[in-house]
Amino acid sequence: MEERGSSMTETRHSDPFVARGDGQKESSQPLLHQHGKEIQRFGEMRLFPIALSHDARMESCQLLNHILADSIILYNLYKKHHWLVRGPTFFQLHLLLDKHADEQLKLIDLLAERVQTLGGVAIADPRHVAEVTTISRPPNGVEEVAAMLSRLLEAHEIIIEKVREAIKKTAQNGDDGTNDLLMGDVLRTNELQVWFVAEHLVDIPVVRV
Ligand SMILES: [Fe+2]
Repeated sequence: MEERGSSMTETRHSDPFVARGDGQKESSQPLLHQHGKEIQRFGEMRLFPIALSHDARMESCQLLNHILADSIILYNLYKKHHWLVRGPTFFQLHLLLDKHADEQLKLIDLLAERVQTLGGVAIADPRHVAEVTTISRPPNGVEEVAAMLSRLLEAHEIIIEKVREAIKKTAQNGDDGTNDLLMGDVLRTNELQVWFVAEHLVDIPVVRV
């Protein structure tokens, strides 16, 4: 172990926050602050040998990225409302909204990795997501609970409409993998979540008929 401060050079070598700076090849100092050009631009496709045409893969990636962007927004709406919900049904809604957020997060990963599997570039950065989504922005503050739930249902329907359209197009293009993901995972999860949220907006007496 080097004595700290015995000389300027030795102090630098023993300080883990200072790079060696002596050009030694065996240094394990990470190369920080590197910047470079994009090696695949958004919208460009790579070719993987999955026996699917460029155009079919391209159209699937476009459809998937729109659904992905909306799903990222819906995930964040669920978390927002999980945090901000209030009133007599706080506990059950707090738990339900978080469960749905977790399920949306799983879909987000499946959608993004499907785009990558097809050779495309998945939307990821929230500022890019905000440019692409068609789900309207909520107020930064707190809405009444019924308005929160209604907003979630509208977001779901926007996604479901796009998913149904994408199911038709991927079937026509022969992209079975994307078709299966959209039908088996994305559509069914969204439909089920709509049911669970919508039941909280039924105006019926709780105790008396
Ligand atoms: Fe939480």
